[in-house]
Amino acid sequence: MVSSILVTGGTGFIGSHTCAALLNAGYDVIVLDNLSNSDSSVIQRLGQICGREPSFIKGDIRDTSLLNTLFQEHSVSAVIHFAGLKAVSESVDKPLMYYQNNVGGTLTLLTAMQLANVKTIIFSSSATVYGDPVSVPITENFPRSCTNPYGASKMMIEDILADLYTTKSNWRIGRLRYFNPVGAHASGLIGENPIGIPNNLMPFITQTAAGLRQEVSIFGNDYDTPDGTGIRDYIHVEDLANGHLAALDYLNQNRELLTVNLGTGQGASVLEMINTFEHSTGCQVPYRVVGRRQGDIAECWADTKLANHLLGWQANRGLEDMCRDAWRWQLRCLRD
Ligand code: NAD
Ligand code: WQD
Repeated sequence: MVSSILVTGGTGFIGSHTCAALLNAGYDVIVLDNLSNSDSSVIQRLGQICGREPSFIKGDIRDTSLLNTLFQEHSVSAVIHFAGLKAVSESVDKPLMYYQNNVGGTLTLLTAMQLANVKTIIFSSSATVYGDPVSVPITENFPRSCTNPYGASKMMIEDILADLYTTKSNWRIGRLRYFNPVGAHASGLIGENPIGIPNNLMPFITQTAAGLRQEVSIFGNDYDTPDGTGIRDYIHVEDLANGHLAALDYLNQNRELLTVNLGTGQGASVLEMINTFEHSTGCQVPYRVVGRRQGDIAECWADTKLANHLLGWQANRGLEDMCRDAWRWQLRCLRD
């Protein structure tokens, strides 16, 4: 039986781009997703992009019997685990749902993996675990903290994985801390399609440029940054997807607990993002400065030396690519 990579949350934003990268690199892929924040049409679109589709199982990572059957029926060499809920404000309103889905779901998944003797996992962690960092750029050994249940769920899962590594050192574990993933696949066939009002900056910009929203509210221009607006490390989702392949290669060669930042190492302000979007697409993005958003930090960007050194990986798409690709995808969403 040919071995496959199981991708939980594989129809979602980052998962779908990682599936495309895996399929293009020759891997066989099984997607497990409950479609709570995505659409199964992604599977056919992956077929269009890659010339073959991943296998798709609609199901939940909290479903023990489904997982046990999946691992019995398929030979899985590694799991890339994206499935999770990710809206910070929703996590404050519904903490139990977040802990059940993210932490409970991961425990169920890990237990089924252990039973099936599948011991390689790459987990989607987040720069949110750095809280409000004392300085930038942020290295992996910075202290961790959190201010909301979403961030807490990421820290808890990181800790569970570390404990698992310590007690069962035959596990190979990647904890990848993503910075701000944006953009879409260059084919224009897959991207990020948030349900309702977007929480994140880039989808807000593209929806405003498309006329779906009146203006972008800039959350504060009184931060201690060059133009006063918040600075983040935006990374193209295709670069991020490739980071997973590099991590998989690394873990295949090294039995380790790998913890790395995946970012570009460059910060961009909110105003810079809007200006770059306007220049690279020719679209206007009306905006207005409003008060700070609660819980926001001034600046956050990655030190990427460890990922560069260990994985031989670096992001190579710039802000203009991110804006152009996000816009191409937004236009596709308007047509579909
Ligand atoms: P997404 O919502 O687009 O994808 C997550 C997918 O998981 C969705 O398709 C959803 O239907 C599925 N899912 C959720 N709960 C599930 C469950 N219990 N069982 C099966 N499937 C389930 O989000 P994304 O942006 O692709 O994020 C992927 C992962 O990366 C998440 O764990 C997220 O926390 C993490 N992350 C995202 C960002 C970001 O800004 N997008 C940054 C850092 C980390
Ligand atoms: C970026 C910048 C905002 C929207 C969040 C999560 C984090 C991670 C990524 C998963 C900030 C400003 C935004 C808007 C604005 N997700 N902004 N107007 O806050 O860095 O991180 O997503 O792990 O956990 O907290 O990303 O895209 O929301 O904001 O001015 O309408 O844009 O203030 O400076 P953030 P974001």
